[in-house]
Amino acid sequence: MEVVSIILAAGKGKRMNSDLPKPMHKIAGKSLMNWLEDSLDELKVSKKLYVLGHQSEKLIKSIGTTDYVIQEPQLGTGHAVNLTKDKIKNHESIIIIAYADTPFVPSDKIKKMISQIKNGYDISILGFVASNPKGYGRVVKKGNEVIKIVEEVDIDEETKKINLCNSGILAGRACDIYNYLNKVKKSSNGEYFLTDIISLCVKDGSKVGLVSSPEEDLIGINDREDLSKAELIIQNRLRIQHMKNGVTMLDPRSVYIDASSKIQKDVTIEPNVFIGANVEIQSKTIIKSFSYLEDCFIGRNCSIGPFARVRPETEILENVKIGNFVEIKKSKINDNSKVNHLTYIGDTTIGTSSNIGAGTITCNYDGEQKHKTNIGNHVFIGSNVALVAPINIKDNSIVGAGSTLTKDVEENLIAVERSKQKQFKRRKKN
Ligand code: UD1
Ligand code: MG
Repeated sequence: MEVVSIILAAGKGKRMNSDLPKPMHKIAGKSLMNWLEDSLDELKVSKKLYVLGHQSEKLIKSIGTTDYVIQEPQLGTGHAVNLTKDKIKNHESIIIIAYADTPFVPSDKIKKMISQIKNGYDISILGFVASNPKGYGRVVKKGNEVIKIVEEVDIDEETKKINLCNSGILAGRACDIYNYLNKVKKSSNGEYFLTDIISLCVKDGSKVGLVSSPEEDLIGINDREDLSKAELIIQNRLRIQHMKNGVTMLDPRSVYIDASSKIQKDVTIEPNVFIGANVEIQSKTIIKSFSYLEDCFIGRNCSIGPFARVRPETEILENVKIGNFVEIKKSKINDNSKVNHLTYIGDTTIGTSSNIGAGTITCNYDGEQKHKTNIGNHVFIGSNVALVAPINIKDNSIVGAGSTLTKDVEENLIAVERSKQKQFKRRKKN
């Protein structure tokens, strides 16, 4: 049987107070929309249909499909779903309605909802017990049966006490849902609430199924505080997942990990480390405190930091040491090389077993263009050296401390660029 998901993402997201559409805000580096889409993809739905409205141009670009309808003006979640009627050919299909601001829905719970629909329920909702239910629609039951959902704007003192909340995820056959939606009346705030179909369904003598999940799966993101709560939940999950995969974290709570990053087993991560998007760290490497990594590959058995910054398009191979206050950008460092202290390496290739002394700078930018530095194998660069790119420092060469080099150094040579030291007798004080 065909299962179609409808993703509601037309709302203004006013409470976010942002120029960015709410579904494009990120958790662990991945947009709310992408989190939801990934979860729905696990269900292998036949089609994902989007309802867009507020800032739709930006969202159209990011969803990359023409399966959307535009809701203008936005008159509520019920109105939004009603607009999709003509896009769903087979009204026997099961539709899953999901909100772009409720992104971590577990797909196995949606599967349960689908099976409830197959087993005689007209509608199935996904609920949770909220620690602070304020703002959520409350699920009202009579005995064991769900009889209605009451939204915050219509709530009375008694219903306020209910902490069983609606996540917004709803399943049903298309024909039933559109049929009930036709009967939904404008609510007190001028919107058509999708959630009003619950009482209409019950009035019809049909049954509403309830599936539940823990609150942290179903947190709705309406403002920045919710966004930070969700980040906390997801960071915690990611850390646990990496630890299960064999990563040691000395103080997991202080490690930030982007959802796209890959970390192999027996990697150790010290406290206060930031692992941004597209980072890959291979086995037996240690990332020391206060290091900041983005879009980079770090090979086996390396030591990075403390206080290292590894910037995008950097490739660090095996047994490499990157020490404190070192910044590396768009560079490749081959096996067994060391860049131990206070150094900037940019647009550079370093060969194997080379040593870069403290305070070395690859001067890659002339104010207009970036230029490349090539450092060969078994090269020793002394402290406080400026390598003005484009420049090649070839295999087995040595560069003396304090040199500013503008010309290539050939293999097996020692290069020094330094004014002669002068010494004078010190005048004695009386
Ligand atoms: C909604 C539910 C509430 C539930 C909560 C869970 C309704 C009426 N209320 O409240 O029961 O507890 O989610 O987080 O459904 N949207 C549109 N078009 C519109 C209005 C909203 O597409 O006209 C979209 C929004 O972009 C958003 C989603 O629907 O992705 C939910 O809207 P929102 O305004 O956040 O509803 P809540 O107040 O959170
Ligand atoms: Mg919401």
